[in-house]
Amino acid sequence: MQILGISGSLRKASLNTAALRACNDLLPQGMSLRITSIADLPLFNQDVFDAGIPEPAKRLRAEIAQADGVLIASPEYNFSVSAALKNAIDWASRPPDQSWQDKPVAIFSVTPGPLGGARVQYDLRRMLGQLWAHVLPRPEVFIGAGPSKFTDGKLTDETTRKFLGDLLAGFKPWIERMKVKK
Ligand SMILES: Cc1cc2nc3c(=O)[nH]c(=O)nc-3n(C[C@H](O)[C@H](O)[C@H](O)COP(=O)(O)O)c2cc1C
Repeated sequence: MQILGISGSLRKASLNTAALRACNDLLPQGMSLRITSIADLPLFNQDVFDAGIPEPAKRLRAEIAQADGVLIASPEYNFSVSAALKNAIDWASRPPDQSWQDKPVAIFSVTPGPLGGARVQYDLRRMLGQLWAHVLPRPEVFIGAGPSKFTDGKLTDETTRKFLGDLLAGFKPWIERMKVKK
């Protein structure tokens, strides 16, 4: 079962990207994770799309299409989704063959503040739901007080590692359950 990881933060020292990397050690048996980059996507423009989908967007759409599930680590920007992540969702959302259709998705978020991205996750669920992605309802993982959970860029807080492990353990049967017969 191949999982595609997407971090909504482009910065090098991103806590979301670091937590996504930590998921590599926490996967249930039979699941593998590959993290892609959304840094090279141009800003979405329908004229550009219509003239020929740019390579980075083509690549992202193919990666999502080929993955059994997508794991999104999302920062919260102004109570919502980062521009980079929204842009990636948009590039993959346009027909034909919009990439999110029937795709199992799991989400988590990391913030320095105490709420851990409680607000952004509902916006993400709303967007992905209308694209017919199937977002794992529970467990919800909000990693608040982010910096205190990492040491030298690695997720070291055991409780948080267990939360992420539980999320991945729940994602596996969700993917099996959501599989569409073709
Ligand atoms: C433009 C901007 C808006 C932000 N808005 C919020 C917010 O609404 N809620 C929140 O908890 N943190 C907010 N933050 C702080 C981010 O949660 C923090 O920078 C976090 O570390 C970003 O994730 P990253 O470490 O993966 O880059 C904001 C940061 C930026 C740059």
